[in-house]
Formats: sequence, C-alpha cells, structure tokens
Amino acid sequence: MPTSPIVTIDGPSGSGKGTISRAIARHAGWHLLDSGALYRLVALAGARAGLAPDDEAGHARLAATMDAVFGAGPDSAEQVILDGLDVTAGIRSEQAGQGASRVAPWPAVRRALLERQRAFARPPGLVADGRDMGTVVFPHADLKIFLTASPAERALRRYKQLKDKGSDVSLAALSRDIAERDLRDSTRAVAPLKPASDAEVIDSTGLSIEAVVGRVLELGARRSLWA
Ligand code: C5P
Repeated sequence: MPTSPIVTIDGPSGSGKGTISRAIARHAGWHLLDSGALYRLVALAGARAGLAPDDEAGHARLAATMDAVFGAGPDSAEQVILDGLDVTAGIRSEQAGQGASRVAPWPAVRRALLERQRAFARPPGLVADGRDMGTVVFPHADLKIFLTASPAERALRRYKQLKDKGSDVSLAALSRDIAERDLRDSTRAVAPLKPASDAEVIDSTGLSIEAVVGRVLELGARRSLWA
C-alpha cells in the first residue's frame, strides 16, 4: 500500500496546535485532521442522545457510527456537520472541550476513533493535530512536533480565541478549566498527553505564529517533506 507523508502536532490546550497545523497543511497542500473535534463530537452526540455521562459503551457506539463531515462553508471557513446538523460553533465552546476530555479517557471510545483518524492519511499528505497523534495514532509519522507554551499564555490565547467568537468567558475561569483539562489529559491511563520519544518539542511562549510556523517548515524541509 503506498504511504503518504504525515506530520503530527500534539500538545496541551491553547498551545496553538490548531493554528499551526492549519498553516502547515495549507503550505504543503495536505489534508488536515483535527482529532480534538472528533472527541468533541462524541461528547456532543452523547448529550444529544441523552446518554448518561458515564456510559462508556454508548459513547463508543456513537464514536463508531456518528456521521461527521468536515468541510468548508461558503466563505471557506471551517464547517462541521454532525448527523446532518451544523455544529461548527457548538463544538468550539470551552464546555464542549470539557465534555470531550471527559469521554477521551475511555479506551472503547479511543479504539472506536482510531480507524476513523487513520483514514485521514491520504495522498498527498496529512497534518494531524491532537494529544496522541505521534504516540498512538501515527507512531510512524515523518515529523512529530510537540507544541507547548506556559499555562498563563495558553489561557490568554484561548481567552482571545473564544472572545473573538463572541463567547462570554472569564480569564480566571478559563485558566482553571485549562488546568483541569491538562491534568485529566496528561494523567489518564490510555494515550496520555506526552511527547513521543522522537518528537521535536517547541515551546511557543513569547513566539509569534509566524516564528513557530517557520520552525516547523524548517524541520519539515530538513526531512525533505516540502521545499
Ligand atoms: O484539541 P481540543 O481542545 O479540541 O481537544 C478536546 C479534548 O479532546 C482534549 O482536552 C482531550 O481530552 C481530547 N483529545 C484527546 N486526544 C486527541 C485529541 C483530543 O484525548 N488526539
């Protein structure tokens, strides 16, 4: 089976993974996998179906069967459709992020999402963003990035992002939520958030988006992934 190149970008909430991944995918002309969106969709589908918050098997069934379509709207902005309904705005709230991190520790849910995620690896290449892209989902990726930033900077970035989207959030509450999510994501038994042993760690504290993108482009060029 022909293989196409894969770049993984993992890291905690607010580290800038989404922004950097989109920029790299655009530069290379590759596909993009926002794996966090899948976990957000499972939590949302579960809430819609009225599942009990601790129903692992029920959430795993939804993870395997939900109809999730990632596309672009009329102005080429991101669009996410879940079982025929536009949930683009709904899955981006901090509440949806918290819901995702509650269903994410369950092994059955992670197993159900594994093949869905791997199916994104198609020519000409893939940029995959998440927590376990380099450690579990694509362990043979050509380039693995682990992106971090100080907790204060990550909270501020998320705050600005949510404010721009019109959410009414407080920086203090967001800092608490992010710390809670970091703890849950990095201490779970299955696929915890951690850098792959062969990952390039980039601390983006105080760096501009352009500087981080430049660093990733340089690492990819060194591996002949792009010119
Ligand atoms: O990246 P995002 O904030 O959208 O992720 C939401 C949550 O989904 C994370 O806090 C994490 O619990 C979970 N997640 C995961 N594995 C991934 C991506 C996201 O467990 N690969």
